[in-house]
Amino acid sequence: EKGGYPHFMLKEIYEQPRTIVDCIRGRINPDTCEVKLSGVIDHRDRFVNARRIIFVACGTSWHASLIGEHLVESICRIPVEVEYASEFRYRNPIIREDDIVVAVSQSGETADTLAAVELARKAGAFVFGICNVVGSSIARATDSGAYIHVGPEIGVASTKAFTGQVTVMAMLALAVGRERGTVTEAYYNEVSAALLHLPETMEEVLKVAPQVADLAKIFTYAHNFIYLGRGYNYPTALEGALKLKEISYIHAEGYPAAEMKHGPIALIDAEMPTVAIATPDHTYEKTASNIEEIKARGGKIIAVIARGDEQVRRSADFVIEVPVIAECLMPIVVSVPLQLLAYYIAVYKGRNVDQPRNLAKSVTVE
Ligand code: F6R
Repeated sequence: EKGGYPHFMLKEIYEQPRTIVDCIRGRINPDTCEVKLSGVIDHRDRFVNARRIIFVACGTSWHASLIGEHLVESICRIPVEVEYASEFRYRNPIIREDDIVVAVSQSGETADTLAAVELARKAGAFVFGICNVVGSSIARATDSGAYIHVGPEIGVASTKAFTGQVTVMAMLALAVGRERGTVTEAYYNEVSAALLHLPETMEEVLKVAPQVADLAKIFTYAHNFIYLGRGYNYPTALEGALKLKEISYIHAEGYPAAEMKHGPIALIDAEMPTVAIATPDHTYEKTASNIEEIKARGGKIIAVIARGDEQVRRSADFVIEVPVIAECLMPIVVSVPLQLLAYYIAVYKGRNVDQPRNLAKSVTVE
């Protein structure tokens, strides 16, 4: 059942080219690049007139939602808030009838997320679900939604669900952005074409696995890790750190790279490795100088860079090269080596990768 892989997690990481195919199937026209989500089409006016979108989620799904915030704000120009479901539900939140609440949950059974959905519905908001498990409680409790269709995720650490969630959010943003007239034709076509090619891009990025496995061997000694990214890849850094924490039991923190100088850089020494995401985007130069600052304090740097990058390569101790696609989709690509890094470190430390201590796959109690 693990398809020849030693763990479900590794199987699920490798499934991603195919799960992305399933996720976009029937939703993007390969000839016209047009994106169609029935859950949006059926409720077009709610989306076009939405005053605000509030994402509610927990854990990895919350990280995907932070990327969703960036996608929706930039493509649809609708203000977005991202809430931990557990905080949202107990805060007597302001929810209005022209708000859309997007509940993101792989299992569709997370107790806090389900409660947030019920609260939002009572307040009269329109509730949209992004779930994996078909017919799950959250999927049933929402007004509309889009499944991520990545198949059963068995490993406790979420991998293919995360990339599926971000893929659906990108399609959602494009579909809504087009209806609202907030996205240019050129950008719409660029991103939807990149989504159509994403399965091949995922095949491509998976080729880094042997190299990441070697890197992991070098870093099993570490007791702490910092993950840095900016823009679309700040949430990717948070997600990379969560993967490492939950399966290797190594303490890791994700930060927006520029925040380091506001405190955390004091932690840096030769024992505190930094994973820095420095793929080409509009903050590349800034990230490059943040990396220099860490290097100057004796920190070891593993940089995720574009193929052919010269600048960050020079300051990094180790590099992982990834293929480059539209900036807003880079978290999907970059998360793959971070999943693999966490996986191999955990394996080398002899951890129970598929069932880490203290964790359950679906958190049905609050
Ligand atoms: C981390 C992980 C958890 C879940 C969280 C929400 O790898 O799996 O953080 O993301 O418990 O679960 P869902 O998405 O099922 O609501």
